[in-house]
Amino acid sequence: MNYIEVSSYDELSRKAANIIAAQVIMKPCSVLGLATGSSPLGTYEKLAKLCKAGDVDFSAVTSVNLDEYVGLSPDNEQSYRYFMDKNLFSKINIDRSKTYVPDGCAADIKAEGERYDALIEKLGGIDIQLLGIGHDGHIGFNEPDEFFTKETHLVSLDPSTIEANARFFASKDEVPTKAITMGIMSIMQAKKVLLIANGKNKKDIVEKSFFGPITPKIPASVLQLHPDLTVIYCEN
Ligand code: F6R
Repeated sequence: MNYIEVSSYDELSRKAANIIAAQVIMKPCSVLGLATGSSPLGTYEKLAKLCKAGDVDFSAVTSVNLDEYVGLSPDNEQSYRYFMDKNLFSKINIDRSKTYVPDGCAADIKAEGERYDALIEKLGGIDIQLLGIGHDGHIGFNEPDEFFTKETHLVSLDPSTIEANARFFASKDEVPTKAITMGIMSIMQAKKVLLIANGKNKKDIVEKSFFGPITPKIPASVLQLHPDLTVIYCEN
Protein backbone atom coordinates (compact mmCIF):
# COMPACT_ATOMS: atom_id res chain seq x y z
CA MET A 1 0.00 0.00 0.00
CA ASN A 2 1.11 3.48 -0.85
CA TYR A 3 -0.12 5.61 2.08
CA ILE A 4 0.32 9.35 1.61
CA GLU A 5 -0.55 11.90 4.26
CA VAL A 6 -0.76 15.48 3.03
CA SER A 7 -1.40 18.76 4.80
CA SER A 8 -4.32 20.22 2.87
CA TYR A 9 -7.39 19.24 0.90
CA ASP A 10 -5.96 21.16 -2.04
CA GLU A 11 -2.81 19.01 -2.01
CA LEU A 12 -4.89 15.85 -1.69
CA SER A 13 -7.02 16.87 -4.67
CA ARG A 14 -3.99 17.84 -6.74
CA LYS A 15 -2.27 14.51 -6.09
CA ALA A 16 -5.41 12.49 -6.82
CA ALA A 17 -6.07 14.44 -10.03
CA ASN A 18 -2.47 13.97 -11.12
CA ILE A 19 -2.69 10.21 -10.58
CA ILE A 20 -5.90 9.98 -12.64
CA ALA A 21 -4.50 12.32 -15.30
CA ALA A 22 -1.35 10.19 -15.57
CA GLN A 23 -3.53 7.10 -16.03
CA VAL A 24 -5.44 8.75 -18.90
CA ILE A 25 -2.28 10.12 -20.51
CA MET A 26 -0.62 6.69 -20.42
CA LYS A 27 -3.80 4.88 -21.57
CA PRO A 28 -6.22 7.22 -23.35
CA CYS A 29 -8.97 4.56 -23.51
CA SER A 30 -8.87 3.96 -19.74
CA VAL A 31 -11.91 2.80 -17.81
CA LEU A 32 -12.21 5.09 -14.80
CA GLY A 33 -14.20 3.96 -11.77
CA LEU A 34 -15.62 7.11 -10.20
CA ALA A 35 -17.17 8.14 -6.90
CA THR A 36 -19.48 10.89 -5.69
CA GLY A 37 -19.70 12.66 -2.32
CA SER A 38 -17.72 15.62 -1.08
CA SER A 39 -14.25 13.99 -1.07
CA PRO A 40 -13.69 13.93 -4.86
CA LEU A 41 -15.04 17.42 -5.58
CA GLY A 42 -11.56 19.00 -5.49
CA THR A 43 -10.12 16.19 -7.62
CA TYR A 44 -12.82 16.72 -10.25
CA GLU A 45 -12.20 20.45 -10.24
CA LYS A 46 -8.49 19.89 -10.87
CA LEU A 47 -9.19 17.34 -13.61
CA ALA A 48 -11.48 19.85 -15.32
CA LYS A 49 -8.67 22.44 -15.21
CA LEU A 50 -6.14 19.97 -16.62
CA CYS A 51 -8.55 19.13 -19.42
CA LYS A 52 -9.24 22.78 -20.18
CA ALA A 53 -5.51 23.49 -20.29
CA GLY A 54 -5.14 20.72 -22.88
CA ASP A 55 -3.07 18.52 -20.55
CA VAL A 56 -5.49 15.58 -20.45
CA ASP A 57 -7.81 14.33 -23.17
CA PHE A 58 -10.83 12.34 -21.95
CA SER A 59 -12.34 11.73 -25.39
CA ALA A 60 -11.49 8.02 -25.42
CA VAL A 61 -12.23 7.39 -21.73
CA THR A 62 -15.12 5.32 -20.37
CA SER A 63 -16.35 5.78 -16.80
CA VAL A 64 -18.31 3.58 -14.44
CA ASN A 65 -19.65 5.01 -11.21
CA LEU A 66 -19.83 3.12 -7.97
CA ASP A 67 -23.39 3.65 -6.91
CA GLU A 68 -26.77 5.36 -7.14
CA TYR A 69 -29.69 5.96 -4.81
CA VAL A 70 -32.70 3.76 -5.49
CA GLY A 71 -35.67 5.76 -6.75
CA LEU A 72 -33.79 8.88 -7.88
CA SER A 73 -33.92 9.58 -11.60
CA PRO A 74 -30.98 11.17 -13.48
CA ASP A 75 -32.71 14.57 -13.52
CA ASN A 76 -33.12 14.57 -9.73
CA GLU A 77 -30.52 16.99 -8.39
CA GLN A 78 -29.65 14.60 -5.55
CA SER A 79 -28.99 11.67 -7.86
CA TYR A 80 -25.42 10.58 -8.41
CA ARG A 81 -25.88 10.75 -12.18
CA TYR A 82 -26.82 14.42 -11.80
CA PHE A 83 -23.82 14.96 -9.50
CA MET A 84 -21.41 13.47 -12.03
CA ASP A 85 -22.83 15.47 -14.94
CA LYS A 86 -22.65 18.67 -12.92
CA ASN A 87 -19.27 18.24 -11.25
CA LEU A 88 -17.25 16.44 -13.88
CA PHE A 89 -18.75 15.25 -17.16
CA SER A 90 -20.00 18.69 -18.23
CA LYS A 91 -16.52 20.12 -17.58
CA ILE A 92 -14.33 17.65 -19.48
CA ASN A 93 -14.35 16.32 -23.03
CA ILE A 94 -15.66 12.86 -22.14
CA ASP A 95 -18.21 11.25 -24.46
CA ARG A 96 -21.30 11.23 -22.21
CA SER A 97 -22.59 8.05 -23.87
CA LYS A 98 -19.55 6.29 -22.40
CA THR A 99 -20.29 7.36 -18.81
CA TYR A 100 -22.16 4.77 -16.78
CA VAL A 101 -23.95 5.01 -13.43
CA PRO A 102 -26.14 2.20 -12.06
CA ASP A 103 -29.83 2.84 -12.80
CA GLY A 104 -31.50 3.51 -9.46
CA CYS A 105 -34.91 3.56 -11.13
CA ALA A 106 -34.61 0.11 -12.73
CA ALA A 107 -37.74 -1.94 -12.13
CA ASP A 108 -35.61 -4.93 -11.21
CA ILE A 109 -32.55 -3.86 -9.20
CA LYS A 110 -31.14 -7.39 -9.12
CA ALA A 111 -31.21 -7.56 -12.92
CA GLU A 112 -29.69 -4.07 -13.07
CA GLY A 113 -26.83 -5.28 -10.85
CA GLU A 114 -26.21 -8.22 -13.17
CA ARG A 115 -26.29 -5.91 -16.20
CA TYR A 116 -23.81 -3.53 -14.53
CA ASP A 117 -21.35 -6.31 -13.64
CA ALA A 118 -21.57 -7.67 -17.20
CA LEU A 119 -20.92 -4.17 -18.53
CA ILE A 120 -17.78 -3.76 -16.38
CA GLU A 121 -16.56 -7.16 -17.54
CA LYS A 122 -17.25 -6.30 -21.19
CA LEU A 123 -15.25 -3.08 -20.78
CA GLY A 124 -12.30 -5.20 -19.64
CA GLY A 125 -12.53 -4.16 -16.00
CA ILE A 126 -11.64 -0.89 -14.31
CA ASP A 127 -8.18 0.62 -14.79
CA ILE A 128 -8.32 2.88 -11.76
CA GLN A 129 -11.05 3.07 -9.13
CA LEU A 130 -11.42 6.29 -7.17
CA LEU A 131 -13.00 5.83 -3.73
CA GLY A 132 -14.06 7.91 -0.77
CA ILE A 133 -14.74 6.26 2.58
CA GLY A 134 -17.75 6.47 4.88
CA HIS A 135 -17.42 7.04 8.63
CA ASP A 136 -18.45 3.42 9.12
CA GLY A 137 -15.82 2.23 6.63
CA HIS A 138 -18.15 1.81 3.67
CA ILE A 139 -16.75 1.95 0.14
CA GLY A 140 -19.29 2.53 -2.59
CA PHE A 141 -22.32 1.73 -0.50
CA ASN A 142 -20.93 -1.56 0.78
CA GLU A 143 -21.98 -1.13 4.38
CA PRO A 144 -20.57 -3.04 7.40
CA ASP A 145 -21.86 -6.60 7.37
CA GLU A 146 -21.04 -10.17 8.37
CA PHE A 147 -19.64 -10.87 4.89
CA PHE A 148 -18.39 -9.06 1.77
CA THR A 149 -20.85 -8.93 -1.13
CA LYS A 150 -19.14 -9.52 -4.45
CA GLU A 151 -21.63 -8.33 -7.05
CA THR A 152 -23.42 -5.06 -7.74
CA HIS A 153 -26.37 -5.23 -5.37
CA LEU A 154 -29.18 -3.51 -3.51
CA VAL A 155 -28.29 -2.16 -0.06
CA SER A 156 -30.19 -0.65 2.83
CA LEU A 157 -28.20 2.35 3.93
CA ASP A 158 -26.84 2.36 7.44
CA PRO A 159 -28.51 4.94 9.73
CA SER A 160 -25.08 6.62 10.12
CA THR A 161 -24.76 6.93 6.33
CA ILE A 162 -28.25 8.43 6.07
CA GLU A 163 -27.28 10.86 8.83
CA ALA A 164 -23.99 11.77 7.08
CA ASN A 165 -25.64 12.25 3.68
CA ALA A 166 -28.54 14.32 5.03
CA ARG A 167 -26.33 17.38 4.47
CA PHE A 168 -26.99 17.10 0.73
CA PHE A 169 -30.80 16.99 1.17
CA ALA A 170 -33.40 19.44 2.52
CA SER A 171 -34.00 17.09 5.45
CA LYS A 172 -32.94 13.68 6.73
CA ASP A 173 -36.35 12.26 5.77
CA GLU A 174 -35.59 12.92 2.11
CA VAL A 175 -32.45 10.76 2.03
CA PRO A 176 -33.28 7.53 0.20
CA THR A 177 -32.91 4.50 2.44
CA LYS A 178 -31.78 2.19 -0.35
CA ALA A 179 -29.06 2.27 -2.97
CA ILE A 180 -27.51 0.11 -5.64
CA THR A 181 -23.76 -0.29 -5.34
CA MET A 182 -20.90 -1.96 -7.11
CA GLY A 183 -19.78 -4.92 -5.02
CA ILE A 184 -16.39 -5.69 -3.54
CA MET A 185 -15.42 -7.89 -6.51
CA SER A 186 -15.38 -5.15 -9.17
CA ILE A 187 -13.63 -2.79 -6.76
CA MET A 188 -10.98 -5.38 -5.86
CA GLN A 189 -10.54 -6.35 -9.51
CA ALA A 190 -9.76 -2.76 -10.51
CA LYS A 191 -6.14 -2.64 -11.65
CA LYS A 192 -5.43 0.32 -9.35
CA VAL A 193 -7.38 1.70 -6.41
CA LEU A 194 -7.07 5.28 -5.20
CA LEU A 195 -8.86 6.14 -1.95
CA ILE A 196 -9.06 9.71 -0.72
CA ALA A 197 -10.19 10.82 2.72
CA ASN A 198 -10.09 14.16 4.43
CA GLY A 199 -11.06 15.54 7.81
CA LYS A 200 -10.26 14.78 11.44
CA ASN A 201 -13.51 12.85 11.66
CA LYS A 202 -12.20 10.30 9.12
CA LYS A 203 -8.88 9.73 10.93
CA ASP A 204 -10.15 6.92 13.12
CA ILE A 205 -11.81 4.96 10.30
CA VAL A 206 -8.78 5.43 8.02
CA GLU A 207 -6.53 3.98 10.75
CA LYS A 208 -8.89 1.07 11.40
CA SER A 209 -9.34 0.35 7.69
CA PHE A 210 -5.72 0.38 6.61
CA PHE A 211 -3.79 -0.51 9.74
CA GLY A 212 -6.22 -2.83 11.54
CA PRO A 213 -7.62 -6.31 10.92
CA ILE A 214 -9.39 -7.12 7.65
CA THR A 215 -13.08 -7.60 8.35
CA PRO A 216 -16.41 -7.10 6.53
CA LYS A 217 -17.44 -5.05 9.58
CA ILE A 218 -15.08 -2.42 8.14
CA PRO A 219 -15.57 -2.92 4.38
CA ALA A 220 -12.65 -0.69 3.33
CA SER A 221 -10.24 -2.96 5.24
CA VAL A 222 -10.44 -5.48 2.37
CA LEU A 223 -8.46 -3.00 0.27
CA GLN A 224 -5.36 -3.94 2.28
CA LEU A 225 -5.33 -7.04 0.07
CA HIS A 226 -5.29 -5.02 -3.14
CA PRO A 227 -1.93 -5.22 -4.96
CA ASP A 228 -1.99 -1.58 -6.13
CA LEU A 229 -3.65 0.61 -3.51
CA THR A 230 -2.92 4.27 -2.90
CA VAL A 231 -4.52 6.06 0.05
CA ILE A 232 -4.28 9.82 0.36
CA TYR A 233 -5.37 11.33 3.66
CA CYS A 234 -5.35 14.84 5.05
CA GLU A 235 -6.60 15.85 8.44
CA ASN A 236 -7.95 19.25 7.38
C1 F6R B 1 -20.05 7.80 -3.18
C2 F6R B 1 -19.63 6.69 -2.38
C3 F6R B 1 -19.43 6.79 -0.90
C4 F6R B 1 -18.63 8.00 -0.46
C5 F6R B 1 -18.53 8.04 1.05
C6 F6R B 1 -17.78 9.26 1.54
O1 F6R B 1 -20.16 7.43 -4.55
O2 F6R B 1 -19.48 5.66 -2.92
O3 F6R B 1 -18.78 5.63 -0.46
O4 F6R B 1 -17.37 7.96 -1.04
O5 F6R B 1 -19.80 8.05 1.62
O6 F6R B 1 -18.53 10.40 1.24
P1 F6R B 1 -17.93 11.87 1.42
O7 F6R B 1 -16.84 11.99 0.41
O8 F6R B 1 -19.08 12.77 1.12
O9 F6R B 1 -17.43 11.95 2.81
